[in-house]
Amino acid sequence: MASLFDSLELGRLTLPNRVTMAPLTRSRAGRDGVPTDLHTTYYTQRASLGLIVTEGVFPAVTSRAFPGQTGIETAEQVAGWRRVADSVHAAGGRIFMQVMNGGRLSHASLLEGEQPVAPSALASGTAVRDFESRKECPVPRALEAEELPRIVDEFRQAARNAVDAGMDGVEIHGANGYLLHQFLSPSSNHREDGYGGSPENRYRLVEEVVRAAAEEIGADRVALRLSPQNNIQGIAETDAADVLATYGGLLRATADLGLAYVSFLNAEPTGELISELSAHARANGRTRVILNSGFGQITQREEAEQLVQHGDAVAVGRLAISNPDLVRRWQEELPVTAPDESTFYMGGERGYTDYPSYTVSS
Ligand SMILES: Cc1cc2nc3c(=O)[nH]c(=O)nc-3n(C[C@H](O)[C@H](O)[C@H](O)COP(=O)(O)O)c2cc1C
Repeated sequence: MASLFDSLELGRLTLPNRVTMAPLTRSRAGRDGVPTDLHTTYYTQRASLGLIVTEGVFPAVTSRAFPGQTGIETAEQVAGWRRVADSVHAAGGRIFMQVMNGGRLSHASLLEGEQPVAPSALASGTAVRDFESRKECPVPRALEAEELPRIVDEFRQAARNAVDAGMDGVEIHGANGYLLHQFLSPSSNHREDGYGGSPENRYRLVEEVVRAAAEEIGADRVALRLSPQNNIQGIAETDAADVLATYGGLLRATADLGLAYVSFLNAEPTGELISELSAHARANGRTRVILNSGFGQITQREEAEQLVQHGDAVAVGRLAISNPDLVRRWQEELPVTAPDESTFYMGGERGYTDYPSYTVSS
């Protein structure tokens, strides 16, 4: 039986354990999107996790989705992430950067006045926080086909910048209702060109992004996060056959690359759908599978132990926020600290860098 505490070969890395830190937006940057000393401290505190995946980072400010989000576009942002990566490595850790375009889940006030873009001019029906308040996500502008190469190039450049900043790789965010997921899902993609309609057309942009990043930095430093049937943030994937055709098709089409890993977020990560998709992802013998069951309940050790029997590793979100030394706590069966949700996106060090490691008196 695989154990959470076994090592794992993943791309160019050897992870010392299979407990990875899930990507977690924490909104701790200023308007300039530059990671600060606080980011360096936060990620370095978590260096004992098998792999850290950073918060979702914007490749261009016109793809920002949150206030306090970091970018990987400007020289200052790259330098900030360089400090994070160097510090995590010095502490013995490994770190991939999640790169995301928010698409329609944004607002002009986050995008330097630009209208949010999406595959089609369809509103998500959800809200977004900007620098001042909560606002309705507006009806986005449908991207012109001629603009899509620019979107792909932004991801390509972000992958280059991430590696220049010392990251071990990038995770392309194709999940949770953001731009790439908006292309995959028939509910948000009503295009009539080569990027909409059939499953193959809907996954075309995601495939182009993954290929571009792989060309730029090597497929063994590129990963992909997917959340089939995670019907949140305006996504509705309700036709099981279409879901399988879309995600299975994407994974078959990219299998030749040998990505570092595919990370699945799904309410039933040990069910048939994810088992079948995992088999496609792993068919090349190199790509690893990371599993997470989503927001329903906080991942605990018992669940993680189950998931590692089905995938190669597990992504842990909320307990990695509140337990910087989670691996030790799980391995030694020590009590864990519960996270304080009210500080998830609050800014500042409270609920960010002030969760202690375990001590006998804690
Ligand atoms: C505060 C917070 C921020 C998150 N930000 C991201 C993100 O930037 N990118 C992403 O793919 N998922 C994000 N997620 C989802 C997590 O990666 C993970 O799937 C979720 O927390 C469920 O796992 P858990 O039960 O271990 O917390 C976020 C979740 C939380 C709680």
